[in-house]
Amino acid sequence: MTPPTAKAFRNPRAQHGFQGRSCSIISVGAYVPERVLTNTELSRMVDTSDEWIVTRTGIRERHVAASDQATSDLAAEAARQALERAAIPAEQVDLIITATVTPDMPFPSTSCLVQEKIGARRAAAFDIEAACSGFIYALEIGQQFIMSRSYDTVLVIGAEKLTGIVDWTDRNTCVLFGDGAGAAVLHNRPGSHGLLTVCMGADGSKGNVLCVPAGGSRVPASTDSVGGRQHFIRMDGKETFKYAVQAMHAAAKEALARCELDISQISLVIPHQANLRIIDAVGERLGARPEQVFKNLDRLGNTSAASVAIALDEAVSAGRVKRGDLILLVVFGAGFTWGAAVIEW
Ligand code: ACO
Repeated sequence: MTPPTAKAFRNPRAQHGFQGRSCSIISVGAYVPERVLTNTELSRMVDTSDEWIVTRTGIRERHVAASDQATSDLAAEAARQALERAAIPAEQVDLIITATVTPDMPFPSTSCLVQEKIGARRAAAFDIEAACSGFIYALEIGQQFIMSRSYDTVLVIGAEKLTGIVDWTDRNTCVLFGDGAGAAVLHNRPGSHGLLTVCMGADGSKGNVLCVPAGGSRVPASTDSVGGRQHFIRMDGKETFKYAVQAMHAAAKEALARCELDISQISLVIPHQANLRIIDAVGERLGARPEQVFKNLDRLGNTSAASVAIALDEAVSAGRVKRGDLILLVVFGAGFTWGAAVIEW
């Protein structure tokens, strides 16, 4: 990995009266379930092939949660690992925010279930839903609590059991998704830069392009909704693809501009892992070198809100992110929603 060419950058947070506060990710953790589902196995379930899936998406296999594992179980594993690495006892956590589109149930929140599982008795807990962009949205929310002096320690989680809402008869979607969870411990660390900026955006006019039509107040669960397979993911892949490339590129550019950074100063770009062709197109438009862009979707598929959280954990564990490095996270998801974050590690 080539080191950043220059260290000079602007910290937008420093302009906003946050003196004496700084929000850093002090540790990360991740968990993926044991069971691996390969493209070859999938080709025995629907009319597809390893060759089609690899060339159109870059995905070779994905992990699938066991029937007795829910999203909170995956989330709790990732959270425990992140807290252990930070050497922070669960009782010290002030707030848990979980980003997910696959909560264990409509309520209570998955964050409350995680709080109980890990023993974070003092923590407030709530979920947020911004689909695949959820982890970046949750990072920004967690950071706001820290910078405003409300809390010092926030646990941010992205966790999904997408295989529970995938239509296993629809080859257009069932090849894309996998299960997993990633977690980050945010902490006030004065004197460091940490999360430099987070850009977020949404376009609700595209809500129907990628959605689960039933199971909410618009179409409550009924025998008709279940029979019509309306509780599964529906997606216009082409429309999603085109929008994703544009929105991820624009969000990343804006985040870099806010910090007065050039892409060459970024050690690692960690994009949402949805499709290799989307990742490559965004990387090219940004002018990133291929080795600057992190990819793990060949092994994990698209894990939605967990995607960049797991990728960040893997990048740190593999030594691809070192203290002081500048990294760029960039995401896109249903809503549509998108976001980008620049972090000094
Ligand atoms: N195996 C074999 N053939 C398939 C498969 C499959 N798994 N899936 C679709 N096809 C067929 C289609 O039926 C179509 O056949 P037809 O021409 O006879 O109708 C043909 O392949 C081409 O389909 P396209 O939709 O044109 O394929 P495309 O190149 O667009 O790739 C894909 C499809 C992979 C879904 C792509 O559009 C994509 O990745 N879109 C973005 C999806 C995404 O990233 N979603 C999530 C982002 S947000 C989030 O993470 C929630």
